[in-house]
Amino acid sequence: MKEKYYLTTPIYYPSDNLHIGHTYTTVAADSIKRYKELQGYDVLFVTGTDEHGQKIQQKANENGMKPKEYVDGIVKDIKELWKTLDISYDTFIRTTDEYHEKAVQNIFNKLYEQGDIYKSLYEGLYCTPCESFWTEAQLVDGKCPDCGREVHKTKEEAYFFKLSKYSDDLIKLFEENPEFLQPASRRNEMMNNFLKAGLEDLCVSRTTFDWGIKVPFDDEHVVYVWLDALLCYVTALGYGSDNDDRFKEYWPANVHLVGKEIVRFHTIIWPAVLMALDIELPKKVFGHGWILFEDDKMSKSKGNVIYPEPLIELYGIDAFKYFLLKEFSFGQDGSFAKEKFLMRLNSDLANDLGNLLSRTVAMVQKYCEGVIPEPMKTGEHDDELISLAKEVPEKFEDYMEKLNFSNALEEVWKLIRRTNKYVDETTPWILGNEGNTERLNTVLYNLCESLRIVSILIKPFMKNTSEEIKRQLGLSEESASWESAVKWGVTVPGQKVVKGEALFPRLDIKKELVRLNEANDKLISERSKRTKAKETKPVVEEEFITIDEFDKIKLKVAEVVSVEDHPNADKLLVLKLKLGDETRQVVSGIKKYYNKEELVGKKVVVVTNLKPIKLRGVESHGMVLAAECDGKLTLVSTLEDIPSGAQIS
Ligand code: ME8
Ligand code: MG
Repeated sequence: MKEKYYLTTPIYYPSDNLHIGHTYTTVAADSIKRYKELQGYDVLFVTGTDEHGQKIQQKANENGMKPKEYVDGIVKDIKELWKTLDISYDTFIRTTDEYHEKAVQNIFNKLYEQGDIYKSLYEGLYCTPCESFWTEAQLVDGKCPDCGREVHKTKEEAYFFKLSKYSDDLIKLFEENPEFLQPASRRNEMMNNFLKAGLEDLCVSRTTFDWGIKVPFDDEHVVYVWLDALLCYVTALGYGSDNDDRFKEYWPANVHLVGKEIVRFHTIIWPAVLMALDIELPKKVFGHGWILFEDDKMSKSKGNVIYPEPLIELYGIDAFKYFLLKEFSFGQDGSFAKEKFLMRLNSDLANDLGNLLSRTVAMVQKYCEGVIPEPMKTGEHDDELISLAKEVPEKFEDYMEKLNFSNALEEVWKLIRRTNKYVDETTPWILGNEGNTERLNTVLYNLCESLRIVSILIKPFMKNTSEEIKRQLGLSEESASWESAVKWGVTVPGQKVVKGEALFPRLDIKKELVRLNEANDKLISERSKRTKAKETKPVVEEEFITIDEFDKIKLKVAEVVSVEDHPNADKLLVLKLKLGDETRQVVSGIKKYYNKEELVGKKVVVVTNLKPIKLRGVESHGMVLAAECDGKLTLVSTLEDIPSGAQIS
């Protein structure tokens, strides 16, 4: 039976169309899948979309659509893009798939019942684009440390996952298992910035919006989108459902490929959740670098987004995949530039590879009537070429095991360039003119043989090109098999070559830049028109509430009778309020804005029928209303003097 290999990409936010940076993870995963299959593994490759959360809900609102309706459109585009790129995934999981939602609820239940999830109050900061919770101390210049954008305060009753309980086990995991997180530099970052700094329990439910999977036993709460999303790696295999056969077969994952900004979720939160569920941990998480645009992060708002579609349409998927994985070192950031892309096409693909194939085929046609000749006479330079050809597949595999695609491809190109040099050194056209057939035959045979090996090694990255070389050289299935890459002398003399089109035509870079920019701009404007058209649509009915719903909220005028500091929290005050005959205690986060003295005697507005809760150990029964804008805050008060206890409606 074949050995199993389970591989994942992150599941993508369908908040906007994907740019070339997004395709990086998936193109890399696709190459690993193909490579492992060639090696004889039974590979399962899971990808998908991460469709819940505040960010998606906001995005849908901006477009005047319901969240599901909005994501359906983008998910369709994403699937289309993967099809265009010939991405060989096996399962596409959407977090809105019913089986996933049910499984997440089952898992949430289990964690709650065993005490790994508990209810409390969350008060802190939230970055909506990253869907991340932060503490004041974690911010960098007051902004989200991951993306540098504004965070906002949030205060809500929530369920918490006991992340802190797993601190020691996580530290042990990092210390004892250096393979778990690659590359090594990210390991230090996780250790020093998070694990050693101490972990706090993680808020895993939200109440301020409702686009998510409902907490099964408390439907005011939706499951935190990151918990929902991470679980897809196991729910995609049936974990948490009636049929978990695939889970038993394929788990643990051999590798989760992720971008560097989400390493924290995958190497701290995810293993802790798995530990709580008593599930084996994934063998490896690889955090790759970012593809920047001229050293800046690519984003729609910066207007520097490059979409993959024009590049693919104009230059083909093989060139696109080759460039992504060859140009940038997988573990590090890299900067994309269109000129660089076009120049690589010319140098590596048109000149080095394309040229080698076309001149080899042309010479076999010219001197050998189109039939690959039998090698007859060895000579100078043969040994050097042959020993390199034998060395390259081994090095290639070493690099692939380390997910160092760039160096793996560089090995293949060493062979290609060496082979081109061999042509220049052996000058087959002179051998032909001199009538030195024996030596000429050997040289041409060696060229074909070298190209055969190249065609096999590039298969995981450039399937079409590989097939085209095979076709032009008339290679049999056998001689193009993965196992035969390490052998020299496999090509059977007598095969007929077929002249074909140039693999990669040489490009006029200036002209191509213009074409490429036009195509990208055209797509950007089409896509923005599409969203603008939607923006003018009326807001969907769901955004309104009925008068009955409003009636459920009981508001009253109250008078502040006394104010004290909260014993356990810097930002909270404990207010004693008089509402007619009744008095109540309310805890409020307004300390930054008011002196205790100035509050006494004030008339404020209170939501009276909020369920009482304890805020950091102090009971709070109700909520005082306040208006907040740009760092200013004012309590809502009444214009005319009216007795406390008066109903507001
Ligand atoms: O993070 N360069 O989704 P996502 C390289 N839904 N990689 C990039 C990139 C760039 N410029 N921009 C994005 C999410 N990526 C979550 C994942 S998994 C349980 C949930 C990569 O759509 C990014 O690093 O923001 C990530 O690996 C992938 O695209 C999806 O990012
Ligand atoms: Mg992201």
